[in-house]
Amino acid sequence: MPEHDSSYAEHEKKIAENASARRNSYWFSKMKAVFREIDDQTACIPKRGVLKFLDLGCCPGGFTSYILSKNSNAQGLGISSELEHGGHKFLLEDRHRSRFKIHYADLTYYRLAPLPASVTSDTKIHPVLPFDASKRFDVVLLDGHQLRKHSPARPGDRDRLLISQLIIGLQAAKHGSTLVIKLADAEQVTTAKLLHMLDVLTTRLEAFKPRGMHATRGTFYAVAQGVGEGRGASRLLALIDGLKELWVDLTIGGADGAGRALGDEDLNFIIGTAELREARQLDRLVELGQRVWAVQARALAGLRDPPLADAGIGGLEDPFTVTPAIAVV
Ligand SMILES: C[S@@+](CC[C@H](N)C(=O)[O-])C[C@H]1O[C@@H](n2cnc3c(N)ncnc32)[C@H](O)[C@@H]1O
Repeated sequence: MPEHDSSYAEHEKKIAENASARRNSYWFSKMKAVFREIDDQTACIPKRGVLKFLDLGCCPGGFTSYILSKNSNAQGLGISSELEHGGHKFLLEDRHRSRFKIHYADLTYYRLAPLPASVTSDTKIHPVLPFDASKRFDVVLLDGHQLRKHSPARPGDRDRLLISQLIIGLQAAKHGSTLVIKLADAEQVTTAKLLHMLDVLTTRLEAFKPRGMHATRGTFYAVAQGVGEGRGASRLLALIDGLKELWVDLTIGGADGAGRALGDEDLNFIIGTAELREARQLDRLVELGQRVWAVQARALAGLRDPPLADAGIGGLEDPFTVTPAIAVV
């Protein structure tokens, strides 16, 4: 290649790297602001006292940074995709790093339930989680989402990511802890069933949509406090077992055994669809979804505050939103 061509290629590469670094730091700040909003609304992060947290899908690190800044005793552990597999760069400030340990791994490759030997011989499968199975956390954050630029490698990868995080998160949540999870479209059957699960397992459940992000879309955060202390807390272990069985099926089910996507009836071990449609359940769902839909409606009416374009990078696409694929209630 002529000399001027290689220096031009270098120049292009630098421009691309700079753009990617700018995007990353934009999302890092944005995620901090999102968690500030969640905490302002739900008071889920205490300012003082011991606080151990687990942050799944933690990169670029905005949630973690917010928690470590607010509570100087907080200590966390996170798992997120490797950079070379399309993950975000981890941008946690140096001053906080001694209180946080990050493990780079694909959350869908932990063996969360027994699998046939032919599958576990796949060298990509991690037999154990990167923390002691007896460890329990005060706050569990489940925000691992495939970024828009990535198409799933296997059928149902998106659903496996969601179910994997729920298994890991519910197992690791301390009695009375707080669990925060990003979900999409409260009116979808599977989302409604997962909300029902959180509702019965915990003492306080809120669905919250940050104004500054995903405003026109159906994504939202569910903040569940008092894990293991709700009216259906005695079902906790059975529900985790149900999620594990489902995880096996999503992993090795499907026509050719390569995995499959989540269907409406898969979560019947939480609540059947007919019962979900009873007035009492629908009233509760509407109560939970109201704040989310109000923010979404404002945004769809053009009242979004502030629009992404005003936040510094005009036209930047939100890479965190997954497209829901499941029928409505
Ligand atoms: C919405 S971002 C999380 C933002 C984060 N809460 C923060 O505060 O910065 C989703 C993250 O999940 C990660 N992710 C996606 N698929 C994953 C997987 N299979 N395993 C682990 N991490 C994954 C992405 O790389 C991305 O960093």
